Amino acid sequence: TDQTYDYDVLVIGSGPGGYVAAIRAGQLGLKTACVESRETLGGTCLNVGCIPSKAMLHASEYFDAAANGTMAKMGVKVTPELDLDTMHAQRLDAVKQLTSGIAFLFKKNKVDWLKGRATFTGAHSVDIAGKTVTARDIVVATGSSVTPLPGVEVDNDKQIIVDSTGALELASVPEHMVVIGGGVIGLELGSVWRRLGAKVTCVEFLDEILPGFDGDVRKEARKIFKKQGIEFKLGTKVTKVTVKGNSASVTVEPGKGGAAETIAADCVLVSIGRRPNTAGLALDKAGLKTNERGQIDIDHEFRTAVDGVWAIGDVVPGPMLAHKAEDEGLAVAENIAGLTGIVNHDVIPLVVYTLPEISGVGLTEEAAAEKMKDKGGIKVGKFPMLANSRAKTNHEPEGFVKVIAEADSDRVLGVWAIASVAGTMIAEAAVAMEFGATSEDIAYTCHAHPTHAEAMKEAAMGVQGKPIHI
Ligand code: FAD
Ligand code: NAI
Repeated sequence: TDQTYDYDVLVIGSGPGGYVAAIRAGQLGLKTACVESRETLGGTCLNVGCIPSKAMLHASEYFDAAANGTMAKMGVKVTPELDLDTMHAQRLDAVKQLTSGIAFLFKKNKVDWLKGRATFTGAHSVDIAGKTVTARDIVVATGSSVTPLPGVEVDNDKQIIVDSTGALELASVPEHMVVIGGGVIGLELGSVWRRLGAKVTCVEFLDEILPGFDGDVRKEARKIFKKQGIEFKLGTKVTKVTVKGNSASVTVEPGKGGAAETIAADCVLVSIGRRPNTAGLALDKAGLKTNERGQIDIDHEFRTAVDGVWAIGDVVPGPMLAHKAEDEGLAVAENIAGLTGIVNHDVIPLVVYTLPEISGVGLTEEAAAEKMKDKGGIKVGKFPMLANSRAKTNHEPEGFVKVIAEADSDRVLGVWAIASVAGTMIAEAAVAMEFGATSEDIAYTCHAHPTHAEAMKEAAMGVQGKPIHI
């Protein structure tokens, strides 16, 4: 430990980026503290993001399976009764167990948990509730929060216009929920309340949902959600929401201009993206500026423009995902310790935890075709879940797996999947791509039968033009 500073490493924010950085720094023998302004550790992900949303998604899946006839089809007849209080209680229990788990891991790895909000006073010092704390290296991992929509005032307490945090906690099932934004949050939380009985209308500004995903996947996903009962208004923007008593009136108009209409709703979810948390950090005191998108720019090693200040997670450019933040947390701690911490940003899986799940890693077919346009082009193999024995047996016929490879070298450029367990299946594709695999490598790897994963093998065989089961 350098005696001039209180700590070797101070991490600001205890989300998946920050807490992982702090634990790894502790493991590497660095004197480490992590400051968090929330009451509990774990950031957005554990408190109001990944974990509680999955608790509601999982529980509502059971309800829906009982209510929509899926269970009856398999000979299990039940009439479900919703006990929303218990559903919320098990959500809170999951959050409590996991956030206190981080506190335990901090103790185990000798990481000091400093409670309060940190504000820079210099490149090596912060103020926390009137106290100055110094560190040789400071990691900014302050995460992100909901992007506000002008003219639409979120008030989670009233439970009429809510953001994702409010939408996790609704005390009763809305009759009609309008979701603004057909992105990940809108589809996941819209699905939760749709399954529990709400009518859900999703208003999306672009002409397709899930921007950034593979074109085929976006179209197929929308068809599936539509069949499940979600109504989509694409190419449409919300211009205003007014609240009267317990109901809201949502004004929408075509994105390209045209006649406005209003939709009545008793709940409106604002999910148009998230923005980095940098306000109130006094970054200027450390000599730092944000870029035009409000993010902190970093180099390949997660160094900011100021020596000794590093940044990771949602506050830096790149996808806003917990696993990306975690990997950056590991890497930044290793770099601070003088080791070599690397994250391959070309291989970050994406998963939407609806039913079926939607996942992808690497390039979309569109991006791959563009990239290889003058370099021999691409080959694509696609296998429908309908032809996968396990999916068929489980009454999960929807979706497909798609493997995209370079035509000449056969190297895999991207993999996309819609399947009940697509989130778990995509890990295989990420490992394959990390090792520079060809589609043939996947096709000739023995996959257990009967599993959904065989669809990955068959899609890869499809790239060779020789799948067996279609
Ligand atoms: P965060 O988790 O946002 O943590 C930052 C922490 O820093 C916060 O606790 C904040 O209080 C604290 N902080 C901020 N400023 C200060 C300060 N000045 N002083 C002290 N503390 C401060 N991602 C996935 O990969 N999978 C999912 O399934 C998933 N589901 C999601 C569901 C929802 C509803 C939401 C909202 C997000 C979801 N995400 C998911 C995204 C994921 O939560 C984020 O990508 C991830 O939490 C980012 O981690 P982070 O460490 O960068 O920041
Ligand atoms: P998003 O960026 O995924 O989707 C926002 C959507 O809103 C886009 O489709 C966009 O075109 C649309 N939009 C923007 N402005 C609009 C407007 N005025 N009117 C109508 N539509 C508009 O953002 P979202 O869903 O809020 O999620 C935020 C982040 O949280 C995501 O980027 C994701 O990284 C992370 N997240 C990840 C999850 C996962 O990995 N499973 C789950 C939930 C969130």
